[in-house]
Amino acid sequence: MRVADSLDRPLRALRVSVTDRCNFRCPYCMPRERCADQHPFLDRGQVLSFEEIERLVRVFVGLGVEKVRLTGGEPLLRHDLPSLVRRLRTIQGLRELTLTTNGVLLDDLAKPLRTAGLDRLTVSLDSLDPARFASLSDSQIPVERVLAGIEAARAAGFSPIKLNCVVQRGQNEAEILALADFAREQDHSLRFIEFMDVGTGNGWQLDRVVPAAEVARVLASRWPLEPVRRDCPNCVAQHWRYLDGHGEVGLIASITEPFCQGCDRARLSAKGTLYTCLFASEGLDLKTFLRTGASDTDLKAMVESRWRRREDRYSECRTNATTPRPKVEMFQMGG
Ligand code: GTP
Ligand code: 5AD
Ligand code: SF4
Ligand code: SF4
Repeated sequence: MRVADSLDRPLRALRVSVTDRCNFRCPYCMPRERCADQHPFLDRGQVLSFEEIERLVRVFVGLGVEKVRLTGGEPLLRHDLPSLVRRLRTIQGLRELTLTTNGVLLDDLAKPLRTAGLDRLTVSLDSLDPARFASLSDSQIPVERVLAGIEAARAAGFSPIKLNCVVQRGQNEAEILALADFAREQDHSLRFIEFMDVGTGNGWQLDRVVPAAEVARVLASRWPLEPVRRDCPNCVAQHWRYLDGHGEVGLIASITEPFCQGCDRARLSAKGTLYTCLFASEGLDLKTFLRTGASDTDLKAMVESRWRRREDRYSECRTNATTPRPKVEMFQMGG
């Protein structure tokens, strides 16, 4: 079944947050002054159980979802995540199951996740420099842990591994070439992401965004590149190919070249709320329906009707006035 929103965009991808907790405090996502260690994160009974997630994912697949990405917070903090992967793998019609992680716990978990049936994974990596990494993640966990996690993922059979780097003016823009060099040498698929005004507390300002076009120029100054024709209109990344045959790099230009037109993504938060945009202020509380006896048919009808009414195109409408809106935090709704 295909359900389309008010702008005729189908529902094809679902991002499922399995926890709102994280072992990092990246200031662009969970600034420590807003998210202290004592922050009232969700407790056990508030987050969806694996049974509930599986049930909801089946409902979404029944509406056309083909791709599911597990996120957080940091998804690997959720106890026994491989067993969720195993459950989701049994869903007929689910073409691809992926995960985005900060990589810290991959050393232990890459193999079990692979064995459970995870198709691909993406690791966030904003810096290779130990001091810079510590300040960008606002944590004591060394970058070596993440690099070891990436290696463990390769050894477990994930290939290529996607790396996400959020570029911030005055923070890590000087590392663009070093990160690209690392990815080229290691055959990882690197994507540079423009710093976004997600949530309410990350101090976003336009002058802290490094435009994707500038990243492309920096890369081209060292390694000539050419754009790759977009074969998937719904992809968030623009792909560029190194002319020397060292693979590709992606640019995610959510600020300077928004891609809402092809946005086929829904988000399910750890507490079971459905959001239809990364910048949403409110969502649909599916958990309450689920826990008060709604049938699969009821749930399907609810999601379908919500999607049909969807009009979101935040990034295309961004202005100085939209940035301070009371948006849900990214670590709560799923990255
Ligand atoms: P695949 O195509 O399945 O590999 O996934 P992806 O390209 O969506 O990768 P990933 O989930 O790692 O997304 C990369 C980053 O792009 C995210 O972490 C966000 O920062 C950004 N992003 C992803 N989806 C959206 C979206 O719907 N809107 C906006 N504005 N940004 C997004
Ligand atoms: N702008 C851009 N990307 C962000 N991410 C988190 N917060 C932001 C932001 N403000 C990225 C992370 C991770 C992914 C889940 O989202 O770096 O790679
Ligand atoms: Fe954690 Fe990822 Fe948010 Fe950083 S961006 S605080 S790693 S959830
Ligand atoms: Fe989709 Fe909202 Fe991102 Fe636009 S801003 S691409 S509608 S999630």
